[in-house]
Amino acid sequence: MRKITIIGAGRVGEAVGQILAKANLVREIVLLDINEGIAKGGALDIQETSPLFCFDTQVVGATEAEAMQGSDIVVITAGVPRKPGMSRSDVLDINSTILNSIIDNILAYAPDSMILVVSNPVDILTYQAWKRTGWDRSRVFGQAGVLDSARMAAFIALETGLSVKNISAMVLGGHGDAMVPMTRFTTISGIPINHFLEPKVIDKIVKRSRFGGAEILTLKQNSSAYDAPAAAIAEMVESIVLNRRQLLPTVAILDGEYGEINIAMGVPCILGEKGMEHIIELELNNDEQKMFNTTIAAIKKDIARICT
Ligand code: LAC
Repeated sequence: MRKITIIGAGRVGEAVGQILAKANLVREIVLLDINEGIAKGGALDIQETSPLFCFDTQVVGATEAEAMQGSDIVVITAGVPRKPGMSRSDVLDINSTILNSIIDNILAYAPDSMILVVSNPVDILTYQAWKRTGWDRSRVFGQAGVLDSARMAAFIALETGLSVKNISAMVLGGHGDAMVPMTRFTTISGIPINHFLEPKVIDKIVKRSRFGGAEILTLKQNSSAYDAPAAAIAEMVESIVLNRRQLLPTVAILDGEYGEINIAMGVPCILGEKGMEHIIELELNNDEQKMFNTTIAAIKKDIARICT
């Protein structure tokens, strides 16, 4: 793969551009934004790190959609961010309108690409992107669970005082307050976390993970998180570009998996050179099924809002 376009050169877009450039993964990265100065300034700033980080990726800032021509992956970060006190669903109507015009540009200029949706509410917008493209679901997916799982792993490392290196957390479901931290599949070197932590501490971690985005937004007031979201996007992109075939929680279109259709949500997936190559179906216990039902109902309600 040779080219990645990032639509939206805001904080998340620029931060992921920097991480991907530093990784020297592809020949060209395009930062596309309706604000020319933001796009070009961000791209130039990243380009000027190339001697220090030693990468040959060319980073280009642009406003015209034509600049995405030939892209292998298009990452969509554009949209209106939420303000403190708002839920991700509160920005659905505006971001859904923005997404439609972005998808039309991708259909015109990068019809052979894969789309990674990041803008919120990500589950609903991923579904909308898939519907509008009419593409195979392997080529349209979203980022949420890698970020939510990273947050959970970070909190577990802080609580236990153990290295984050061997902590593997898994958060599934929608990227909203009803997301589903899967404690049964969260381990430290393969040992379930309930071996290390009291139930009430695990509950605290689960709650903090669910509201991880809001915690940062409340602290910063005028910005959502962007360092961890950017690192999470880069993890998914790397798995695809290098065909690593990592098993990562991914917002995927369900076609019968988990008993659902007509929905996109976070489930464990294999990401490789063909995109979202496979969905892993887990047998859920009663508690997990209940949490899945709640997150599914919330996503379906929002999907109905934009599809009517
Ligand atoms: C968050 C936003 C990006 O979780 O959804 O930080």
